[in-house]
Amino acid sequence: MLVAVPAGDSIAQSPHDLQELGSKLFIERGCVRCHTIGKGRFVGPDLKGVAQRYSPQDIVRWIKDPQEIYSKEGKMPVNEGYPPMPPPQDVHPMEAKAIAEYLMNTKVGKVDPDGGTITGKVVNKTTDSPVPGVGISLKAFMGDRETGDDETETSADGTFKFDKLAWDRSYSLTLAFEGAEYATDKMVFFPDENVKTLDLPVYAPTLDDPGITVKEAHTVVEVSENGVDVGDIMIFDNPGDRIFVGSADIAEGKKETLRFDLPPHAANVTFMHGLDPESVVTTERGFSDTESIMPGEKRVIFAYSMPTDSGAVTIEKNILYPTDSFLLLVPETKNGVDVTGLTADPEPIQMENVNYFKWQGKDLEPGDRITVKFKGAGGIAAYLDGYIKWAALGLILLLVGLAILYSSVGKSGPAKRKESGDRERKELLDKRSVLIRDIAALDDDFEAGKMDESRYRRLRESMKDELVEITRRLRL
Ligand code: HEC
Repeated sequence: MLVAVPAGDSIAQSPHDLQELGSKLFIERGCVRCHTIGKGRFVGPDLKGVAQRYSPQDIVRWIKDPQEIYSKEGKMPVNEGYPPMPPPQDVHPMEAKAIAEYLMNTKVGKVDPDGGTITGKVVNKTTDSPVPGVGISLKAFMGDRETGDDETETSADGTFKFDKLAWDRSYSLTLAFEGAEYATDKMVFFPDENVKTLDLPVYAPTLDDPGITVKEAHTVVEVSENGVDVGDIMIFDNPGDRIFVGSADIAEGKKETLRFDLPPHAANVTFMHGLDPESVVTTERGFSDTESIMPGEKRVIFAYSMPTDSGAVTIEKNILYPTDSFLLLVPETKNGVDVTGLTADPEPIQMENVNYFKWQGKDLEPGDRITVKFKGAGGIAAYLDGYIKWAALGLILLLVGLAILYSSVGKSGPAKRKESGDRERKELLDKRSVLIRDIAALDDDFEAGKMDESRYRRLRESMKDELVEITRRLRL
């Protein structure tokens, strides 16, 4: 059965595409955290055969707003013995249709009656050899509550296996190798998945700085009635083939792996991505991370605010790592700003109807310094005077959007139109996945008490706007 999708209201060209999108969204949107399809009850009912239980419209209603179902049925919950279903966040109507389409048409594959299997191999990527005899622990969860654990050891070829795992749990794996800890995210079995196969890379440790650089640094300044907020995205690169466990002891049993300077007077530092407050140590000039740095890229996002009591704001940034590319974005204002240490780019960019001016730097070296000074006698007061419509816009919108925006501003000629259209679509889809993940991370941070509610709401609201915007563009 097909859900009626008005022409032009979907990015998908055929019901098949729509189902395929739906199957991805079923995972991305977290339905899998609470529902199986054909593997029995989980937090919510098994969704096998929902098409027999509900009309297509009602399935869409469940996904868009379960409250509509509850009003219609006059009871909550509908299924005895279950909690009510919380309204899924940020599911665009088009996405709800795609998921419904998938649920109505999917055929349940073969389900292993013994339960699920998580198997894989631990490989030392420094030496490219399997790691035998390393202990692996598995933890099972129901929601956030741990419900059990298990342990095993890798065999001679580095492989391991946990089987007979209940479908109605999520699982995580941890292992320790040569002094560094490794952990997976929580995982659930996807529809049609009986066996999860994972590669767990580990690395020989090093105490010497492997030559860490910053591939991209983005600083975004936001001004509101409350002051100036600054957001930093940094993409670090460990070019070596060893995990960097830190050289200098910075606190009891903790070694510094990454160093961050903050401008004098920076306050309300918030770690949004890639930094675990428990591993962060405050220093005289900012803070340091003590988590080991794996080879490859590591993305870090943090934000802070600058007090405006004095009426003037100057943001100073010290470059601590060789930095391939630096980008500063400041919204258009009456008085403008003075920036040193970077080159102004004459062309502003427009996001959500606000003009941002940008400054760029290439190949910056440790010791370089960037300053951003708000002009005008009244300093920030004058700045706010000329400040217009975008107070409600959150920081994260830019934080998340930018990294991708910049790599996707392609110079495509007409001959390449088709190809670049596909590419753009793919980029948008990727961007959307990133955004969905980041929203989940933001939710986690808020639930863990890592940020205050007003900030959380503001950030989440703008991430949501961004998501809607991406979805809109996908449909064009
Ligand atoms: C936090 C857990 C949770 C998440 C996440 C969740 N659901 Fe549910 N869902 C439930 C629970 C619990 C029920 C049963 C509620 C009731 O009976 O009132 C339910 C009921 C349903 C039903 C009706 C099932 C029936 O047989 O009556 C559908 C359809 C459904 N969910 C689809 C989805 C989809 C699609 C998603 C992802 C967008 C999703 N759910 C995300 C917990 C969840």
